[in-house]
Amino acid sequence: MATRKLQITAVAAILLLSFSSTSDARVYDVTNYGAKADGRSSINQALMSAWKLACASTSPSKIVIPKGTFLLKEVKIQGPCKAPVEIQVEGTVKAPANPLSFKTDGWLTFNYIDNFTLSGGGVFDGQGKIAWGQNDCHKNKNCKRIPMNMRFNFITNALVHDITTLDSKNFHVNVIGCKNLTFLRFTVTAPENSPNTDGIHIGRSDGIYITDSTIRTGDDCISLGDGSRQVHVTGVKCGPGHGISVGSLGKYQGEEPVSGLWVKNCTLINTQNGVRVKTWPASYPGSVSDLHFEDINMVNVGNPIVIDQVYCPWNQCQANIPSLVKISNVSFKNIRGSSSTATAVKLACSSKVPCQDVVVGDINLTYKGPEAPAASCQCSNVAPSFLGKQSPQVCASAA
Ligand SMILES: *[C@@H]1O[C@H](CO)[C@@H](O)[C@H](O)[C@H]1NC(C)=O
Ligand SMILES: *[C@@H]1O[C@H](CO)[C@@H](O)[C@H](O)[C@H]1NC(C)=O
Ligand SMILES: *[C@@H]1O[C@H](CO)[C@@H](O)[C@H](O)[C@H]1NC(C)=O
Ligand SMILES: *[C@@H]1O[C@H](CO)[C@@H](O)[C@H](O)[C@H]1NC(C)=O
Ligand SMILES: *[C@@H]1O[C@H](CO)[C@@H](O)[C@H](O)[C@H]1NC(C)=O
Repeated sequence: MATRKLQITAVAAILLLSFSSTSDARVYDVTNYGAKADGRSSINQALMSAWKLACASTSPSKIVIPKGTFLLKEVKIQGPCKAPVEIQVEGTVKAPANPLSFKTDGWLTFNYIDNFTLSGGGVFDGQGKIAWGQNDCHKNKNCKRIPMNMRFNFITNALVHDITTLDSKNFHVNVIGCKNLTFLRFTVTAPENSPNTDGIHIGRSDGIYITDSTIRTGDDCISLGDGSRQVHVTGVKCGPGHGISVGSLGKYQGEEPVSGLWVKNCTLINTQNGVRVKTWPASYPGSVSDLHFEDINMVNVGNPIVIDQVYCPWNQCQANIPSLVKISNVSFKNIRGSSSTATAVKLACSSKVPCQDVVVGDINLTYKGPEAPAASCQCSNVAPSFLGKQSPQVCASAA
């Protein structure tokens, strides 16, 4: 009797489970639409067929790219959709290696999608080696535009989690016009010497969260362009790379303010820079405010703390004309570890629009060069207020 009751309960439970899993989300496996895991024939058509169905579905749906190696050419994943859509990537998706085979500067471009999830533990391999060798954009203004691994354009209420972007030809991820977009357990991997391979670049977006993620790459781990608002970077490990940067700003007319950046509980390892704000001299007016850097561990990092308002790489600017980008309400608290350059803290603000409301809390940065001086600090046009202890002494002569 009891056994029979148990059996019935078990059957009911199984029925309930299978019912709820099919009604939760419609599932479109790309291999049912012609995708082959041979790494040679492109899955674009299969993915597009699945996307068309998923995006038109009036109930939540999921596209699955299962385990295996797939070739995917340049693709535009276009919304709006009728209900939430998830793309679950379990396998490795490879880009064509030849950058000349791309018509645009994006490999995967996601456009106008609301309630979107990208998940699955899979890898997007940009196969960047050939492109890196051809990249001459640092000296040639008319260089050919090189595709980024992922472009998120006007994406809202979205979550990208447990995804790896590998060896992008250019930036790994570009975020523009997005609202409430989270990157969680996101991994960026490219060699230290790969040019322009910024991890995540954000512009003109509001509410971007980068959490518990690891970024190892050849350029900035995270960079913020104009119009970045309410960006939260938490539990990120960065390095190698060029650090976490705001800017460079002020080069173009009509740039939107940058406001609200929280970088908390992060570790930077062997990066060229730590946390950095850079603006061009002789700039257009602009504004940067509400930047908060807290609980950051620096391991052998060059220039761990930098505000540089005379940022002028390749000497292509009039460095003697001050920047007009106003920087205010910036705090650096509990930043510790080792610097690989003697200057551990540099706060070089504009003489025309000095930095305002800069707070420096506990800082403990050490420098061990062979016969080097201790870690030092440079300040101009800034009078920070202090909390706690600072080593090196920050702005001892300027404040
Ligand atoms: C996204 O989710 C919100 C909140 O649940 C809902 O109001 C909106 O209609 C959804 N949009 C789509 C396209 O699913
Ligand atoms: C932000 O997006 C997430 C999905 O990642 C969603 O669960 C959450 O409700 C959204 N928040 C708001 C305020 O819409
Ligand atoms: C800090 O970040 C690490 C990941 O790098 C995470 O494991 C840890 O829980 C975080 N600690 C706090 C206090 O948030
Ligand atoms: C500084 O920024 C924080 C966070 O956005 C904000 O709460 C605070 O009011 C700002 N302080 C000033 C002086 O603007
Ligand atoms: C600063 O860090 C060094 C090395 O990690 C440590 O020995 C020293 O005690 C720290 N100083 C303070 C004031 O915390």
